[in-house]
Amino acid sequence: MTDWLSAFEESLAAFEPAGHDRSALGLAAAGWAERARDEHASIAAFDRFSLELLAVAAPPELLEGAHVAALDEIRHSRLAFALASTYAGAPIGPGPLDVDRALEHVGSLAQLAEATLVEGCIGESLAAIEAEWAAEAATEPAARAALQIISADEARHAELAWATVRWASAEDPALTERLSAVFEEQLARAVAFAETDCSSVDLTAFGLLRPVRRMALRRAAARDILEPAARVAFG
Ligand SMILES: [Fe+2]
Ligand SMILES: [Fe+2]
Repeated sequence: MTDWLSAFEESLAAFEPAGHDRSALGLAAAGWAERARDEHASIAAFDRFSLELLAVAAPPELLEGAHVAALDEIRHSRLAFALASTYAGAPIGPGPLDVDRALEHVGSLAQLAEATLVEGCIGESLAAIEAEWAAEAATEPAARAALQIISADEARHAELAWATVRWASAEDPALTERLSAVFEEQLARAVAFAETDCSSVDLTAFGLLRPVRRMALRRAAARDILEPAARVAFG
């Protein structure tokens, strides 16, 4: 068994439900189950990404990164379903994934660059930063361990996304202006959505940040990390 998995499973086995409020445990299970389904869908996103790269003759380093990232997402999905199952006290796993339209638009360099910018450069960067903050705030050892692994992996996925965008821009310099505009528009959208904090139960101990806290952290990350990165990338 790999080191990360055995260390995680040890802390999961040591989890003591009796020390927690039942409704908080139920909400923590639901929160991690939702995250697990997103992570599971991310496996397909990287499978699709590797086909998109092949379709535009991308270099082998990017292809290798895409395949490694898909394996990372399998790991995230396993971690998140294991946490959800432990908190629920019953097994929770993935259902069928609708992949019917997964290969629409494959073959367009512009489409690949735009999607990578939005989902990777912005989405994976914010995911890495949020997971890092959630890990620091979590007091449950298994949730903290999972988030530390997820955060490090998502940061690598963001780097892969930037490398892909740089390669696509070098292949077709005419893309740069459009990508710069898309970045500005989508970053504003990523930090503008209004999540309401209607629950009185604080799940920070389980690695689930309150929505208002997440938004504040996202805005700080956009200002301090993503906007400077875009200035370097697009001038
Ligand atoms: Fe992930
Ligand atoms: Fe990721």
